[in-house]
Amino acid sequence: MSIAVYALGIVVLSLFLRSLFSPHSFRHLPTVGGPSAPLLSYIGAHKYVNNAISILQEGYDKYKGGTFKVPMISRWLVVITGPKLVDEVQKLPDDKASFLEASADLSSVKYMFGSQVHKNPYHVTIIRQQLTHNLAALFPEVIDEIETAFRELVPAHPEDWVSIPALATMKQIVSRASNRVFLGLPYCRDPVYLDMALNITRLVGKGRLWIDMFPEFLKPLATKFIANIDGHVDAGLECLKDLIYPRIRDVEKYGDKWTDKPSDLLQWVIDEERKSGHIDARNVMKMIFMLNFVAIHTSSNSVTHALYHLAANPEFVSPLREEIEAVIETDGWTKIAMGKMPKLDSFMRESQRLNGINGVSLKRKILKDVTLSDGTFLPGGTILVTPSTATHMDEDNYPDPTVFDPWRFSELREDGEEMKYQLVSTSANYVAFGLGKHACPGRFFAANELKAVMAHIIMNYDVKAEKEGVRPPNQWFGLSLMPHPTAKVLFRKRRN
Ligand code: HEM
Ligand SMILES: *[C@@H]1O[C@H](CO)[C@@H](O)[C@H](O)[C@H]1NC(C)=O
Repeated sequence: MSIAVYALGIVVLSLFLRSLFSPHSFRHLPTVGGPSAPLLSYIGAHKYVNNAISILQEGYDKYKGGTFKVPMISRWLVVITGPKLVDEVQKLPDDKASFLEASADLSSVKYMFGSQVHKNPYHVTIIRQQLTHNLAALFPEVIDEIETAFRELVPAHPEDWVSIPALATMKQIVSRASNRVFLGLPYCRDPVYLDMALNITRLVGKGRLWIDMFPEFLKPLATKFIANIDGHVDAGLECLKDLIYPRIRDVEKYGDKWTDKPSDLLQWVIDEERKSGHIDARNVMKMIFMLNFVAIHTSSNSVTHALYHLAANPEFVSPLREEIEAVIETDGWTKIAMGKMPKLDSFMRESQRLNGINGVSLKRKILKDVTLSDGTFLPGGTILVTPSTATHMDEDNYPDPTVFDPWRFSELREDGEEMKYQLVSTSANYVAFGLGKHACPGRFFAANELKAVMAHIIMNYDVKAEKEGVRPPNQWFGLSLMPHPTAKVLFRKRRN
């Protein structure tokens, strides 16, 4: 308790100091969501935490196609809108507009995971290259894990409905399927490890919100109290000791001559570590946790959102079943099959349009002064975002934007835009996975995994909402959107 009080004191003090000393170089941009005088802007910041989404919407409505700023507790957030500016920013080179620096500032990852993850984020390369290129080969394992997990966690009967806590169950299933590819059997089913992976995801997710409120020089200390992952790393290594240490020994022993080495994320992480000359088991463990952090919470939220839509509107099931059944018959449960389900793909993309993981996207930190084509001056140090929710809810981009229309994108695909409207396709009007060079590298894996989960549900179960026809409402925490955390979905084993 006393730690919490101290922490609060430090936060208040640091906010005060920061407001006195921070250069106020954004005067030229209109402010939305609060007064713009120093210190007073914290009134706005408080309001922003509670109303982030409506403030961004207000700014979008007023300044669409242009730029405005909103006060956050720790800084100004500069918001660019409209496809012209968004595409312009997306194309700025890394040394002018950095995704890495923006996410380091906004997520405090470097304090929680250590500076080596920040300086050498090789997990991004691993996801983009090895994981994505090996998807087809790894897919049977993902499918096996999904089937096994459902058998254990959703034991439904043809006669009566069973009530399943949706988000908690999807978290388990997604963690198992993802860790099947990260670590393989039997660790992807180890209850202690899975619990740990979910705990660290929660700890880091909450930690970054709190740590961000401290001034830079206090962040390392704040991290020790708020989100110290050292103990988790020790516990993780203890739990995986029979997996990680022998692997490291084998890599050191056989090096490049190891011809039949395992093909999983752990191996690729160890191979990358080896390039630095010394394989540090703690770094390996941190990377495994990092991968869980970026993959699990995003994917389980996403599939839960889609499941809530399906449960509230069971009339969508039959066209999906028809499509899936036909494809599985010819291609089996393969990655190729997942690429031939435009209706399911559209369903998931539409769910993601309405239920994106975050109210902003395209995070960038301006490193060198930039002047945009409309004359807007962005000084070095500016943190930029684009409001994804407002963009996805814009009538000019999507007719009837508040309506969940599952075939919205499959119909557009039929009109000859085959590539543009797939779940993994990004554009200035669809930023659920970010945009440009730093769009989510995990989206190809996620799209296949999540379509497999949905297809498994649709082929094996009937589902319905607890309150017939009613989708459990979403919950906002500042800029983060969550599916209803405790709502249940009713499952019944499909007959015939
Ligand atoms: C439906 C699930 C997912 C969603 C909605 C999602 C969303 C996003 C978004 C929006 C960004 C970019 C942030 C921005 O521009 O502001 C991002 C980045 C990233 N995502 Fe995902 N993601 C998902 C799944 C995954 C998975 C499964 C992995 C790993 C296997 C992953 C790994 C990453 C990484 C490493 C980055 C940082 C990219 C970089 O540093 O260039 N994501 N994700
Ligand atoms: C995860 O967190 C819960 C709740 O804080 C705790 O009871 C549990 O022991 C943790 N599990 C592991 C494996 O650390």
